Amino acid sequence: MRDVNAAPEIAWAQLRALAVEAAKRSYAPYSHVTVGAGALCSNGQMISGSNIENASYGLTLCAECSLVSDLIRSEGGRLVAVSIVAGDGLPIAPCGRCRQLLFEHGGSSLLVDAGDGVAPRALAELLPDAFGPDDLGIRRNQ
Ligand code: THU
Repeated sequence: MRDVNAAPEIAWAQLRALAVEAAKRSYAPYSHVTVGAGALCSNGQMISGSNIENASYGLTLCAECSLVSDLIRSEGGRLVAVSIVAGDGLPIAPCGRCRQLLFEHGGSSLLVDAGDGVAPRALAELLPDAFGPDDLGIRRNQ
């Protein structure tokens, strides 16, 4: 398998297009905010996800949840770069919970699409001083 970390060119237009397509297949009858996510995985494959709402509002799955489900199911490895867009096709800020979710599977170096003409941002910028899997090992005291 190709390790894309060794070749850091990211096909942002392709990731954004995947996200836009995924947003078209979202289920958002309550908020009417459709969201799609497209990502490049460390094994070179591209995956996507859409938000899936629920009549019990708090049970809503963000597009990033569905993306991570795709990642694990397809054995993509780690997230390398991600584009998250709303139905208008423009990048949308990942919510707090999803920043944590992305951190688990991409770490602080995960690149996040920040829009045209703007440099992608590392997740470290969006979730500084993150708590993650390493902290569990270090902080266990029994
Ligand atoms: N949403 C996402 O899918 N990802 C985010 O990071 C922000 C919010 C969705 C959840 C809900 O279906 C809609 O946007 C409005 O909050």
